[in-house]
Amino acid sequence: MDTTSQLEQLAKRQAQARLGGGQDKIDKLRAQGRLTARERIDLLLDPGSFEEFDMFKTHRCHNFGMENTVYPGDGIVTGCGTIDGRIVYVYAQDFTVFGGSLSETLAEKICKVMDLAMKNGAPVIGLNDSGGARIQEGVESLAGYSDIFLRNVMASGVIPQISAILGPCAGGAVYSPALTDFVIMERNASYMFLTGPKVVKSVTHEDVTVEQLGGADMHSTQSGLCDYPALSTRDAIDYIKRLLTFLPQNNFEPPRPLPCADPPARASRRLETIVPPNPNAAYDMKEVILETVDNRDFFEIKAQFAPNLIVGFARYNGVCVGIVANQPAHLSGVLDIDSSVKGARFVRFCDCFNIPLVTFVDVPGFLPGTAQEYGGIIRNGAKMLYAYAEATVPKITVITRKAYGGAYCVMSSKHLRGDINYSWPSGEIAVMGAKGAVEVLYARQAKEAKDPAAFLAEKEKEYSETVANPYIAAQRGYIDDVIAPSQTRARIVRALKLLQNKRDSNPMKKHGNIPL
Ligand code: HXC
Repeated sequence: MDTTSQLEQLAKRQAQARLGGGQDKIDKLRAQGRLTARERIDLLLDPGSFEEFDMFKTHRCHNFGMENTVYPGDGIVTGCGTIDGRIVYVYAQDFTVFGGSLSETLAEKICKVMDLAMKNGAPVIGLNDSGGARIQEGVESLAGYSDIFLRNVMASGVIPQISAILGPCAGGAVYSPALTDFVIMERNASYMFLTGPKVVKSVTHEDVTVEQLGGADMHSTQSGLCDYPALSTRDAIDYIKRLLTFLPQNNFEPPRPLPCADPPARASRRLETIVPPNPNAAYDMKEVILETVDNRDFFEIKAQFAPNLIVGFARYNGVCVGIVANQPAHLSGVLDIDSSVKGARFVRFCDCFNIPLVTFVDVPGFLPGTAQEYGGIIRNGAKMLYAYAEATVPKITVITRKAYGGAYCVMSSKHLRGDINYSWPSGEIAVMGAKGAVEVLYARQAKEAKDPAAFLAEKEKEYSETVANPYIAAQRGYIDDVIAPSQTRARIVRALKLLQNKRDSNPMKKHGNIPL
């Protein structure tokens, strides 16, 4: 065969592979408003940067007449490319080939990009759209899933792993995304569940729709699996691109600093009055974050799950940080099971990837009640404690108002190796809130008093004045300084600079035993 014919044959084969499961299947996808795997990759990567692997790889299944239905590429497009000039490894499941179901071959293709990503220290992004294990293959498919799971675990904390769910993700397909660092789901187009509505009906007799059982809204508000419910594929991909701007390529690098035009010492008068005079009144902690970070630019993660705790990324004078903040505007900023798990996972992510932590504290304590105790608030609250204690990245804390009880200890306190701990003058640091404290301390005297309510009110005032302020903690050195709220940005910027070469470590061990 001469060169021209060889090239023609190559072009023909490439064109065939690009068609996936065929034009009719592509047309069906389009009719549903969905993009093909290749179109998704094109949206994600810098134009012209995609380097594809295994375009001609096929399945080897001979069951159920499968040998007669072979598509080059076998239901997944894999390779690497760049986003904003930085290398990423990608795979996109192709629903047009056997519903994107996972064959042995498909798993091998994913494993190949994951191995390359690990060797080269670059993030892996998976665009998921799959009917689960390829039913015709059986155990080879299960083996393939297990091979991927193993790699997800080995890559955890070494390279960032991001999953977008852009269609079905059922059965075995769910666990690989669940093992990755971030999960983005397309609203009204994707779902994730272990067993579908029909199986649910036969086992538990519940009637439930696909959306109720595993839609993006459910996973963003209830299970906490989804970090961002995207409005469209484009929105999901834009979110991933922006997320990557805050992340390093791997655990040996810090995130990329950016030039910053926002003055580092910019004062904020707004913060002087943000804490209301009534200690029980709410205010929006997001406003505190926005007033202090570069250009009011805050990238929130899991915004709709446990909104009593805010987590996300931002920059101070160009330096990327992870922010954790109690939200007094929701459930008074109390720590409960969901917020503890949310916070712990975020803190551990930041620690894995050298991202300093800035913690804003206004927390009345842990949420009381049987629902919380039965649900394991002790075990789950301990996760947050564990995460902050083990984190060795720079840790800066700003107490804006309440820091009560166990929640004071947990929220990046000095005692858990907080590096620089500030309080605003409005800080209230005590074992418990004034009302609860005097009810315990003066229960007997209140009964004997002429007017128990007035007596307790007086004692409450006295307790607040003597104990609930930042100065006792400052006298002990648990608070490094009491700062003017308007100076918060300047102080955080300076603290980050002071801590930029921080080195700290944990005792040698195989791994710790976080209370899971
Ligand atoms: C092989 C599959 C497939 C699968 C879909 N297809 N899922 N082929 N294995 N798992 C094929 C269909 O036969 C069909 O082929 C094409 O993909 C498109 O599927 P449709 O059903 O027409 O599409 P749609 O109506 O959009 O429904 C999508 C779906 C449904 C909801 C995902 O296909 C479905 O329920 N699939 C099975 C899901 C499942 O039970 N998976 C196994 C889970 S168990 P044609 O040729 O007709 O176009 C599992 C265990 C692993 O994963 C555990 C590991 C730890």
